[in-house]
Amino acid sequence: MKITFKHISILLTLAVFAFVGLTSCNDPNQTGWEFAPNMYNSRAYEAQTQWKENMINPHGMNMRLPVKGTIARRNYKTSFLQDDSTVVNDLMIYTINKDSISISERVLVNPIPWSDQAEEDGKVLYERYCQHCHGASGAGDGKVGAVYKGVPNYSSDAYKNLNDGHIFHVITHGKGRMWPHAAQLTPEERWKVVHYVHRLQLGN
Ligand code: HEC
Repeated sequence: MKITFKHISILLTLAVFAFVGLTSCNDPNQTGWEFAPNMYNSRAYEAQTQWKENMINPHGMNMRLPVKGTIARRNYKTSFLQDDSTVVNDLMIYTINKDSISISERVLVNPIPWSDQAEEDGKVLYERYCQHCHGASGAGDGKVGAVYKGVPNYSSDAYKNLNDGHIFHVITHGKGRMWPHAAQLTPEERWKVVHYVHRLQLGN
C-alpha cells in the first residue's frame, strides 16, 4: 500500500486524540467534562454545601447565622403551666444521651403533677400514638402490634415497675425495636403519656 499524505494525516489525528485522551485524566482534582453540571452542583442555595460565592448573603456564604433570639438546644427550657397557674420549667434534660437510659431512670422525675386532666390528656395521646402497637389495655395486643410482634405487656413483672424517667426516655429515643417518638410528641405531651402508661402498668 502506498502511504499518502492522507494516511499520515489520519494517523496524526488519531495520535493526538490518543494523547489527549490518555493525559487528560492525570489530574485527580479535575472532574473532567460534566454532561449536566446542575446535577452535580445545585442551582438552589443549599445551606450545607457551597460551590460558588453567594452574591446575596453576608460574607458570600449560603449558611446564615441563627436569627436573633435563637436559643441553643442545650439551653432550651420548656415550661408548663399548672392548674394553680404556677409554672414548672425544664420538662426535659436534653443532654441525656440515648444510650444512657439508666441516667434518665435516676434523674428524671415527671415535672407535670398527676391530675385527672393530665392523665386524661395522656390517654388521648396514647390512643393516637401508642395504642395500635401496645393495645388499649397496654397488654401489647394492638392490631399493629400483632403484626409487628414483640410488643411487651406493661403490667407484666418485667415492665410494671418502669419509672417516669425510663418511660420518658423510651418515648423520646425509642428502645430496641421501638422507634423514637420525639418528633411526634412534645416533652409536655410525653410526660402526660407517662402518667397514662403508669395507669396501664397497674393492669386493671
Ligand atoms: C410500632 C409499634 C410501637 C409503637 C407505635 C409504640 N411502641 Fe412501645 N414498644 C414497641 C416494641 C416492639 C417494644 C419492645 C422493644 C424492645 O425491647 O425491642 C416497645 C417497648 C416499649 C416500652 C418498654 C421499654 C423497655 O424498657 O423495654 C415502653 C415503656 C413503651 N414501648 C412505650 C410506648 C409508648 C408510650 C408509645 C407511644 C408514644 C409507644 N411505646 C409506641 C412497639 C411500639
